[in-house]
Formats: sequence, structure tokens, C-alpha cells
Amino acid sequence: MPNLRSIEKNLRPVLFYGNNPLSLLGGALTTASALVLVGFWVVTIFGHGGPSNPYVGLIFDLCLPGLFILGLILIPIGIVLRRRRLIATDQVPATYPQIDLQNPVFRRGIEIVVLATFINFVIVGTASYRGVAYMDSAAFCGTSCHVMKPQWTAYQASPHSHVECVECHVGTGMKSYVQAKVNGTKQLVEVAFDTYPRPVTAPLNALRPARETCEECHNPTHFAGEKLIVKTTFGDDEKNSVTRTVLVLHLGGVDSLSHRSGIHGHHLDHYEYVSTDPDAQHIIAVTATNPNGTSTSYVDSSWKGPISGYTRTMDCMDCHNQATHVFQTAEDAIDEAMVDGTPNPSLPFVHKEGLVLIQATYTSQAQAGQKIVSGLDDFYRTQFPQVWSTQRPLVDAAAKRLVAVYDRNVFPSMKVTWGTYPNNIGHMDFPGCFRCHDGSHVSKSGKTLSNDCGLCHNLLAVDETNPRVLNDLSLQNELHLQ
Ligand code: HEC
Ligand code: HEC
Ligand code: HEC
Ligand code: HEC
Ligand code: HEC
Repeated sequence: MPNLRSIEKNLRPVLFYGNNPLSLLGGALTTASALVLVGFWVVTIFGHGGPSNPYVGLIFDLCLPGLFILGLILIPIGIVLRRRRLIATDQVPATYPQIDLQNPVFRRGIEIVVLATFINFVIVGTASYRGVAYMDSAAFCGTSCHVMKPQWTAYQASPHSHVECVECHVGTGMKSYVQAKVNGTKQLVEVAFDTYPRPVTAPLNALRPARETCEECHNPTHFAGEKLIVKTTFGDDEKNSVTRTVLVLHLGGVDSLSHRSGIHGHHLDHYEYVSTDPDAQHIIAVTATNPNGTSTSYVDSSWKGPISGYTRTMDCMDCHNQATHVFQTAEDAIDEAMVDGTPNPSLPFVHKEGLVLIQATYTSQAQAGQKIVSGLDDFYRTQFPQVWSTQRPLVDAAAKRLVAVYDRNVFPSMKVTWGTYPNNIGHMDFPGCFRCHDGSHVSKSGKTLSNDCGLCHNLLAVDETNPRVLNDLSLQNELHLQ
């Protein structure tokens, strides 16, 4: 028994000094957050059925443990402060009071802790539950958090609209989990203090490697072969004349003999590049290392500075940076809408006028909504009164669709407009493939990353009214239009 007695003796001063508001609050915070945490772990073990969400982690792995530790820190601080005060006023007792539940002083202390724990438990528990339920909802990303609005809107219209944000933004494994937590916390702080960048930047290096994300679903060696692409474009003339571009893209892949071909077949090896900007739009050097260990470096011959900057190993996202957050060009957006039938190509000059309206500068989506509608209405009322009076439903539908096209791509409040986010597939609107394949990235031995027009695709028709190849393929009547 002597052991127990000495423990009791050592405990006495702790309990004596601990009987102060600060330490009691600390004790209550610690026990309350511990209870909520244990409750959450129990729920997790038995499964809550919902999707995993980084913000659940934010609360349960950062906030609650934070409160727990805060409570633990408050206890000794309260003790030290009370001890100092008692020493200063010479009130330290000769012997510390015995631990005795009959003692009203101890009883009061314990009652306070129990009561405060209960209140804290209710507050902390309710706040955590409500916070998680709220952040779990689509509304959190889409509507409440205006910072994410452009990415959310583009996401909803993408082929990945049923893939959870976390599937791409939070990789598997402990390291990426912690990294996502740290990033998430940083972003929450930025939003709270309104210091986040507008537009939100998308540095590729901040994302998880494709191996942990895209390749969980897509097999990188899948052989895709040749891909036929038909692009329909409308003219700026009265008839909105249709032209078509037809190309066969050499997508390639890896065959059963490990032979690599085409766009997907190459770039699977270790390609490391250096860019001068975080978005990797200006690439000054790329080193291709093949499986047999040989490597070739291609350097931009027009670059006179040192070869340093942002280094990155190429993966899916260097080309498919817009696999999900697809921001269109104004031309592509209106062409796509017109292929879909609205704005209807029978309306004179609707392509030209529509482009002007969606490309004008507005202060908000609300203002754009009004001005685009009134602008198109004015145009037909003054220029084509006949069309305006007989085809009003078509004009109204066209205006409505133009507003939708604008709202899908332009977000004045986030400083996101046409072309803010580059798309790295292709080379017509952004540097894309030509960041490396521009014909001026040259190796020491004089080998050039070619920009030969036949390297990546066969161009079967470029902006032709009636491409023969579509007739040959019996596709001339496809694509909704005759
Ligand atoms: C299929 C994968 C994928 C999914 C699903 C996805 N994203 Fe992204 N996200 C990306 C890629 C790739 C980029 C980088 C784009 C670039 O560099 O141009 C990105 C960039 C972003 C950015 C720009 C800033 C940054 O962190 O780099 C935000 C914000 C964002 N995503 C939010 C979301 C939200 C919110 C969701 C769910 C509604 C979501 N993402 C779902 C792949 C994805
Ligand atoms: C959770 C699974 C999943 C993840 C992770 C994922 N994808 Fe997909 N992806 C899909 C599915 C399913 C489709 C097909 C959707 C459809 O056909 O509508 C698709 C379609 C695509 C397409 C074709 C788009 C089109 O217009 O036809 C591309 C390109 C693509 N994904 C690239 C990526 C890239 C790059 C990443 C990583 C940033 C990625 N995916 C991550 C499931 C996933
Ligand atoms: C060098 C650039 C590049 C890289 C790297 C790349 N892709 Fe692609 N990918 C393309 C191009 C170009 C297309 C065709 C785009 C189109 O259909 O308009 C494409 C098409 C696709 C498609 C659609 C295929 C179809 O049949 O329509 C999928 C899925 C895809 N890529 C997934 C991936 C994944 C996963 C990775 C990483 C392992 C990857 N890509 C790496 C350039 C690239
Ligand atoms: C970061 C630089 C970089 C970017 C961006 C890039 N490539 Fe490449 N590409 C390379 C390198 C390096 C090679 C391999 C050269 C070698 O074999 O030494 C290559 C090879 C190729 C090849 C095979 C060429 C051959 O000789 O058979 C094709 C096709 C190709 N790329 C298409 C594309 C397409 C399409 C895009 C855009 C969607 C693209 N690349 C973007 C660096 C790049
Ligand atoms: C490094 C690969 C590569 C090279 C070299 C290349 N292209 Fe392309 N090109 C692409 C890709 C990828 C696309 C996009 C296909 C898509 O829209 O998905 C494209 C698209 C196009 C389009 C259709 C674009 C549109 O939006 O209408 C035209 C036209 C075109 N290329 C012309 C050329 C010409 C001319 C050359 C020679 C100077 C050339 N390309 C060289 C990869 C390449």
C-alpha cells in the first residue's frame, strides 16, 4: 500500500492547485473532445456508409485533437498560475488537503468538471456533426464556397462528374493524406481571411501523381489505336455556314509485345521537364529517359537563360490538365451549343452576334444574363424585324443558351474569363503539345522534337464545307446537322 499512499500524496498538490477555472475548463475540453473522437472512431469502425471526405479528416484529425491538446495545455497553465498567486499571497497550506469526496471544495471542483464536460460535449459534438454534414454536401463545394465555383461548374459538365473530388485531389497513402490536410487547412485559412488568389491557380505539382489518381481507374497501357475526330465550326456569315475539320489522331498505346506507339505509347517513360512558370506553359527543357536507361535532353534553342525553374515528371495531367475542369474557348463553346441545335443555325448571323455578346466584358454573371438577353433581342428587333416577330421563341431560346454558355465558362467574381485556364491538349488555342513539339527543342546531337503535321494526326480535312472523307465514311449526315 505504500505505493498508493505516495501517489495520493503527489496527487494532492495537483488537485489542490488544479481547482481553478482555467484548469477546470481545460479538463472539460479535453474530456469532451476525447469523447467525441472516440464516438467518431466507433462509427468509422462500423462504417458510416458515406464517402470519405477530406473535411471529415480536417475536423476529426485536426480540430478535435487540437481542442484535446489545448485542454491539456490549459490544465498545467492554470495550476502554475494558481500556485504563483497563492505563493505571492502566502496562502500555501502546510499540508495539502486530503483527497476526500466528502470535502465540499473537491466536490465542487468535480461537479464543475462534469457539468462543463457535458456542455462542451454537446457543443463540440453538435458543431462537428453539423460541420461534417455541411461540408459533405455538394452545396459546400458548389454554391457556398464561391472560390470553387468555376471548378465546380466545369466539373459538373465533365465526364468525371460522378467521380468524387477526393479521388483525384487526395491520393492513397498516409503522405498524400497529410499533404491534403495541410493544403486544405491552408485554403480554409485563405478563404477565412479572404487572401486566396483570384483566379484560383492550378499548379500541377500541387496535385497527386497520376499513378495514385487517374491510373486507379484508367489503364495507362491500354491500346487506344487511332481516334477519329470531327470538329464542326460555324461561320460569321448570315447563314452561319458550316465547315468541318476531320483528323485521325495517332493515340496508340502499348501492345502485347511492349511495343510503344503514338501519343499514349510515348510519354509513358520517365520524361522530366523544366518550366519557367508553375503552370508549365513555357517549357525550356525536357529529358526523356527510356527503360534501357539511355536518356536524351531537348533544350529550347530560343531560350538564353539558365535551365532552372519548376521541375516535374510528366504524367497524364500534363496533357489532360482539363480532364475534369474543362473550360472551353468562346468559339468551341458556341459551336458546341449550335451543333446541339440552340442557338438555332437558321437564325441569321447568330454565330457572329452570339460570339460578340458572350465575349463582351461584364461585371457579374447577373449583369451578363441581362445584357446578353437584351442584346440579342435588340439585334433581331432592329436588324431583322421579320425574324424577330415570327421566330421569337427561337431568339429567346438562343439568348437563354448563350447565357448558359457564359455562366459555364466565365466567372467575373473569381477573375476567370475565356482562356484563363489553358488546355494542354492540342496546339491551336494554347501552346499545348507545342510547348515541347514546337520544332525548336533540340538535343545535343541535333535531334529535334518534331512538329511535323503527320506526327500526331492525319489531317483529312481542314475547315471544308463538305469533306469527301465524311461521304466516304457515310458520316456526312451525322452530327445533328444536315
Ligand atoms: C478526374 C480528376 C479530378 C476530379 C474528379 C476533380 N478534379 Fe479538381 N483538378 C484536377 C486537375 C488535373 C487539376 C489541375 C488543372 C490544371 O492544372 O489546369 C485540378 C484543379 C483543381 C482546382 C484548381 C486549384 C488546385 O487545387 O490545383 C480546384 C479548385 C479544383 N480542382 C477543385 C475540385 C473540386 C471542388 C472537385 C469536385 C467537385 C474536383 N476538383 C474534382 C482533377 C480533378
Ligand atoms: C474514379 C475513377 C476515375 C478516375 C480517378 C479518373 N477517371 Fe477518367 N474517366 C472515368 C470514367 C468512368 C470515364 C468515362 C466517362 C464517360 O464515358 O462518360 C472517364 C473518362 C475520361 C476521359 C475521356 C473523356 C472524354 O471526353 O471522352 C479522359 C481523357 C480521362 N477520363 C482522363 C482522366 C485523367 C487524366 C484522370 C486523372 C486526373 C482521370 N481520368 C481520373 C473514371 C475515372
Ligand atoms: C502527351 C499527352 C498525353 C498524355 C501524357 C496522356 N494522354 Fe490521354 N490523350 C491524349 C490525347 C491528345 C487524347 C485525345 C484527345 C481527344 O480525344 O480529343 C487522349 C485521350 C485519352 C482518353 C480518351 C480515349 C478515347 O478513346 O477517347 C483517355 C481515357 C486518356 N487519354 C487517358 C489518359 C491517361 C490515364 C493518361 C496517363 C496514364 C494519359 N491519357 C496520358 C494525350 C495524352
Ligand atoms: C514536356 C514535353 C512534351 C510535351 C508537352 C508533349 N510531348 Fe510528345 N514527346 C516528348 C518527348 C521528349 C518525346 C520523345 C522523344 C524521344 O523519343 O526522344 C515525345 C514523343 C512524342 C511522340 C512520338 C514521336 C515519334 O517520334 O514517334 C508523339 C506522337 C507525341 N510526342 C505527341 C505529343 C502530343 C500529341 C502532345 C500534346 C497532347 C505532346 N506530345 C506533348 C515531349 C513532350
Ligand atoms: C505533337 C503533336 C502534334 C503535332 C506535331 C501537330 N498537331 Fe495538330 N493537333 C494535335 C492534337 C493533340 C490536336 C487536338 C485534337 C483534339 O481536338 O482533341 C490537334 C488538332 C489539330 C487541328 C484541329 C484543331 C481544331 O480545333 O480545329 C488542326 C487543324 C491541326 N491540329 C493542324 C496541325 C498542323 C497544320 C500541324 C503541322 C504544323 C499540326 N497540327 C501538328 C497534335 C499535333
